[in-house]
Amino acid sequence: MCENCNCKDERLDEVKKVIAECNGDKSQLIRVLNTVQEVYGYVPTYVQKVISEELDIPMAEIYGVITFYSRFSLNPKGKYNISVCLGTACYVKGSQAVLDKVKEILGIDVGGVTEDGKFSIEQTRCVGACGLAPVMTVNDDVYGNVDPSKVKDILAKYE
Ligand code: FES
Repeated sequence: MCENCNCKDERLDEVKKVIAECNGDKSQLIRVLNTVQEVYGYVPTYVQKVISEELDIPMAEIYGVITFYSRFSLNPKGKYNISVCLGTACYVKGSQAVLDKVKEILGIDVGGVTEDGKFSIEQTRCVGACGLAPVMTVNDDVYGNVDPSKVKDILAKYE
Protein backbone atom coordinates (compact mmCIF):
# COMPACT_ATOMS: atom_id res chain seq x y z
CA MET A 1 0.00 0.00 0.00
CA CYS A 2 1.07 3.54 -0.72
CA GLU A 3 1.61 5.39 2.56
CA ASN A 4 0.06 8.61 1.23
CA CYS A 5 -3.39 7.44 0.21
CA ASN A 6 -3.53 3.68 0.88
CA CYS A 7 -4.02 2.99 -2.82
CA LYS A 8 -2.54 -0.22 -4.15
CA ASP A 9 1.03 0.63 -5.05
CA GLU A 10 1.93 -1.57 -8.00
CA ARG A 11 5.29 0.13 -8.27
CA LEU A 12 6.09 -1.04 -4.76
CA ASP A 13 5.16 -4.59 -5.76
CA GLU A 14 7.72 -4.34 -8.54
CA VAL A 15 10.38 -3.11 -6.11
CA LYS A 16 9.54 -5.88 -3.62
CA LYS A 17 9.93 -8.43 -6.38
CA VAL A 18 13.49 -7.20 -7.04
CA ILE A 19 14.23 -7.16 -3.30
CA ALA A 20 13.04 -10.78 -3.08
CA GLU A 21 15.42 -11.72 -5.90
CA CYS A 22 18.30 -10.34 -3.82
CA ASN A 23 17.82 -13.11 -1.21
CA GLY A 24 18.89 -10.79 1.58
CA ASP A 25 22.16 -9.86 -0.16
CA LYS A 26 22.85 -6.31 1.05
CA SER A 27 25.38 -5.73 -1.72
CA GLN A 28 22.41 -5.59 -4.11
CA LEU A 29 21.27 -2.25 -2.67
CA ILE A 30 22.31 -0.27 -5.76
CA ARG A 31 20.34 -2.65 -7.98
CA VAL A 32 17.24 -2.16 -5.82
CA LEU A 33 17.67 1.62 -5.80
CA ASN A 34 18.08 1.63 -9.58
CA THR A 35 14.71 -0.10 -9.83
CA VAL A 36 13.09 2.38 -7.43
CA GLN A 37 14.49 5.35 -9.33
CA GLU A 38 13.28 3.87 -12.59
CA VAL A 39 9.71 3.09 -11.51
CA TYR A 40 9.05 6.11 -9.26
CA GLY A 41 11.36 8.70 -10.85
CA TYR A 42 12.86 9.24 -7.39
CA VAL A 43 13.36 7.33 -4.15
CA PRO A 44 10.45 8.03 -1.77
CA THR A 45 11.08 7.82 1.98
CA TYR A 46 8.46 5.13 2.52
CA VAL A 47 10.18 2.93 -0.07
CA GLN A 48 13.52 3.50 1.67
CA LYS A 49 11.85 2.16 4.84
CA VAL A 50 10.71 -0.96 3.02
CA ILE A 51 14.22 -1.56 1.66
CA SER A 52 15.69 -0.94 5.12
CA GLU A 53 13.39 -3.53 6.70
CA GLU A 54 13.60 -6.15 3.96
CA LEU A 55 17.37 -6.00 3.45
CA ASP A 56 18.17 -5.09 7.06
CA ILE A 57 20.15 -2.01 6.07
CA PRO A 58 20.01 1.13 8.29
CA MET A 59 18.07 4.06 6.84
CA ALA A 60 21.15 6.30 7.24
CA GLU A 61 23.18 3.98 5.04
CA ILE A 62 20.51 3.95 2.34
CA TYR A 63 20.27 7.74 2.51
CA GLY A 64 24.06 7.97 2.18
CA VAL A 65 24.04 5.88 -0.99
CA ILE A 66 21.16 7.85 -2.53
CA THR A 67 22.85 11.17 -1.92
CA PHE A 68 26.26 9.92 -3.08
CA TYR A 69 25.13 8.94 -6.58
CA SER A 70 23.73 11.73 -8.72
CA ARG A 71 21.46 9.32 -10.62
CA PHE A 72 19.34 8.88 -7.50
CA SER A 73 16.96 11.58 -6.38
CA LEU A 74 15.14 12.16 -3.09
CA ASN A 75 12.56 14.39 -4.75
CA PRO A 76 10.11 13.79 -7.58
CA LYS A 77 11.23 15.23 -10.89
CA GLY A 78 9.26 16.77 -13.70
CA LYS A 79 9.04 15.35 -17.19
CA TYR A 80 11.84 17.77 -17.99
CA ASN A 81 14.41 18.17 -15.25
CA ILE A 82 16.39 21.38 -15.53
CA SER A 83 19.75 21.37 -13.93
CA VAL A 84 21.90 24.48 -13.59
CA CYS A 85 25.57 24.03 -12.79
CA LEU A 86 26.81 26.07 -9.83
CA GLY A 87 30.34 24.67 -10.00
CA THR A 88 33.12 27.24 -9.77
CA ALA A 89 33.66 27.83 -13.50
CA CYS A 90 29.93 28.21 -14.15
CA TYR A 91 29.33 30.28 -11.04
CA VAL A 92 32.09 32.73 -12.02
CA LYS A 93 30.46 33.08 -15.44
CA GLY A 94 27.07 33.92 -13.94
CA SER A 95 25.19 30.64 -13.55
CA GLN A 96 23.41 31.93 -10.43
CA ALA A 97 21.65 34.51 -12.62
CA VAL A 98 20.69 31.70 -15.03
CA LEU A 99 19.26 29.66 -12.16
CA ASP A 100 17.37 32.68 -10.84
CA LYS A 101 15.87 33.23 -14.29
CA VAL A 102 14.72 29.59 -14.55
CA LYS A 103 13.10 29.87 -11.10
CA GLU A 104 11.42 33.15 -12.05
CA ILE A 105 10.00 31.81 -15.33
CA LEU A 106 8.73 28.53 -13.86
CA GLY A 107 7.63 30.01 -10.53
CA ILE A 108 9.22 27.21 -8.51
CA ASP A 109 12.30 26.84 -6.38
CA VAL A 110 15.21 24.41 -6.57
CA GLY A 111 13.85 20.93 -5.76
CA GLY A 112 10.37 21.93 -6.89
CA VAL A 113 8.14 20.61 -9.67
CA THR A 114 5.65 22.70 -11.66
CA GLU A 115 1.99 21.91 -10.95
CA ASP A 116 1.54 20.22 -14.31
CA GLY A 117 4.51 17.96 -13.53
CA LYS A 118 6.32 19.17 -16.60
CA PHE A 119 9.40 20.89 -15.18
CA SER A 120 11.59 20.49 -12.13
CA ILE A 121 14.72 22.40 -11.14
CA GLU A 122 17.89 21.27 -9.49
CA GLN A 123 21.31 22.76 -9.06
CA THR A 124 24.44 20.69 -9.59
CA ARG A 125 28.15 20.87 -9.18
CA CYS A 126 30.53 20.64 -12.14
CA VAL A 127 29.14 18.48 -14.91
CA GLY A 128 32.50 18.32 -16.70
CA ALA A 129 31.74 20.90 -19.37
CA CYS A 130 33.50 23.90 -17.82
CA GLY A 131 34.64 25.14 -21.25
CA LEU A 132 30.97 25.82 -21.99
CA ALA A 133 30.28 27.68 -18.73
CA PRO A 134 27.71 28.60 -17.68
CA VAL A 135 26.02 25.28 -18.34
CA MET A 136 22.44 24.13 -17.89
CA THR A 137 20.89 20.82 -18.89
CA VAL A 138 17.34 19.77 -19.66
CA ASN A 139 17.26 16.01 -19.17
CA ASP A 140 20.13 14.85 -21.42
CA ASP A 141 20.31 18.05 -23.52
CA VAL A 142 23.28 20.25 -22.62
CA TYR A 143 23.23 24.02 -23.15
CA GLY A 144 26.46 25.99 -22.89
CA ASN A 145 27.30 29.70 -22.65
CA VAL A 146 23.81 30.25 -21.33
CA ASP A 147 22.83 33.83 -20.78
CA PRO A 148 19.76 34.54 -18.62
CA SER A 149 18.15 36.17 -21.66
CA LYS A 150 18.32 32.81 -23.50
CA VAL A 151 16.55 30.80 -20.81
CA LYS A 152 13.04 31.55 -22.00
CA ASP A 153 13.79 30.32 -25.55
CA ILE A 154 15.45 27.18 -24.23
CA LEU A 155 12.45 26.32 -22.05
CA ALA A 156 10.05 27.06 -24.91
CA LYS A 157 11.50 24.05 -26.79
CA TYR A 158 9.95 21.80 -24.15
CA GLU A 159 6.52 23.40 -23.95
S1 FES B 1 31.73 24.14 -13.28
FE1 FES B 1 29.98 23.94 -14.51
S2 FES B 1 30.57 22.45 -15.93
FE2 FES B 1 32.29 22.61 -14.68
